[in-house]
Amino acid sequence: MHALRLPPDADDAAFRDAARRALAHDLKPADIAFVAHGSGFLFDEVPPGRADLTVPRGFVALMRDAACHRAEDRFALLYEVLWRLKHGEPGLLERATDPAIAKLSLYAKAVHRDIHKMHAFVRFHAQEDGGYLAWFEPDHFILKRAAPFFAERFANMRWIIATPIGTAIWDSERLVFAPPRPKPERLEDGVLDGLWRTYYRTIFNPARLKTGAMTKEMPRRYWKNMPETAEIATLTRNAQHRLTARDPDTAPRYADKAKPRAKPELPKLGLARLREEAEHCTACPLYKHATQTVFGEGPANAKFVLVGEQPGDQEDLAGEPFVGPAGQVLDRALEEAGIDRKTVYVTNAVKHFKFAPRGKRRIHSKPNAGEIKVCVGQWLKRELAAIEPDFVVAMGASAAQGLMGKSVTIGAVRGREIAWPDGRRGLVTVHPSYLLRLQDNREEEYEKFVSDLKRAARLAAG
Ligand code: URA
Repeated sequence: MHALRLPPDADDAAFRDAARRALAHDLKPADIAFVAHGSGFLFDEVPPGRADLTVPRGFVALMRDAACHRAEDRFALLYEVLWRLKHGEPGLLERATDPAIAKLSLYAKAVHRDIHKMHAFVRFHAQEDGGYLAWFEPDHFILKRAAPFFAERFANMRWIIATPIGTAIWDSERLVFAPPRPKPERLEDGVLDGLWRTYYRTIFNPARLKTGAMTKEMPRRYWKNMPETAEIATLTRNAQHRLTARDPDTAPRYADKAKPRAKPELPKLGLARLREEAEHCTACPLYKHATQTVFGEGPANAKFVLVGEQPGDQEDLAGEPFVGPAGQVLDRALEEAGIDRKTVYVTNAVKHFKFAPRGKRRIHSKPNAGEIKVCVGQWLKRELAAIEPDFVVAMGASAAQGLMGKSVTIGAVRGREIAWPDGRRGLVTVHPSYLLRLQDNREEEYEKFVSDLKRAARLAAG
């Protein structure tokens, strides 16, 4: 047995170095223990060494996320998966029900959630020196992952976010990390705290508190560091009084009586911000079982956009669209059509993987009309508004339905130029997965797919 020492907040890079060292000596997962720096341990250190390490993209994403989790077994699990990938199980990442993969995927999901909570619930307080200070208590080692968001959003301020796991410091130019510091004794700020409280009074909806929706979005454990939550008790009491005064019978049921409100127009955002926000999307239930949001990929000024249906199993793990079997068909077809994938923005109508578990496998399940509509409204339309492409190709019925706003028969429109309802030019073709499912005429259909792509490229070029 050998020991590999890592700092308590080690990230994926530290793990990668440690794993290379262990692999250089061919040490099996059962032969090593990942231990924190400074802890006493009876076994020898792994001697120096550095094995070459090439891993699937899906593992890189999993490693990056799961390494931030607080669980002590995270590195042992990552090393087990790495070892098995290299020793006869190259398809391991696709086996979502494998205990190691399932556990690491849960870790990764928890880390994403924690980052989202930090982005949403950090509250800055003005300091006498003109800077701002916030205190936040994350569940996992996410400070380095979450802090760049604040550097981008509050670029002109000088701020410090102190947490029990470390401190992020932004001096309006550079982001640096320092060891943890104690929780500040007083954090009030007459101006900003007041603004938060006013804002909260305007958005407070007692029905959401009553149905539990509010505590789900804003769990109580964060309340102590959020000035606006001091308003909750009074607001709830007042709402009860108002409703009781109006109609005592309906008071306890006001949650059911809430009138649907007109949907506010979603703000137009740049692609990077949209991607960041989509990471935390809960607009339909698909996020609950998927590993992560799979946003589009490609240049932010692409002239040509390809839209698929939804991420598949491998895309869900990797966090990137079209990297699995359908992606390989697409890559080959694009190459044959003379289109460089690097110049194309590739995305999906639906951003979370929908599947049905079957034994150890996750079987793709078609998104329904509601899921397509919500996701397209929330993300695809805004992606297109940010990119402003000249030409948008829908691959398959779900993509066409999402873009058209109603169901489309592929055979009726395939391969010719059409106008999408937003006025953009485009074309509909089949989905690469359809080609994978064909038994008899796969080559013939593949050739038609390539020629659709060629035509789309010609039309896009005008
Ligand atoms: N199928 C899709 O529609 N999109 C992907 O990203 C992968 C498979």
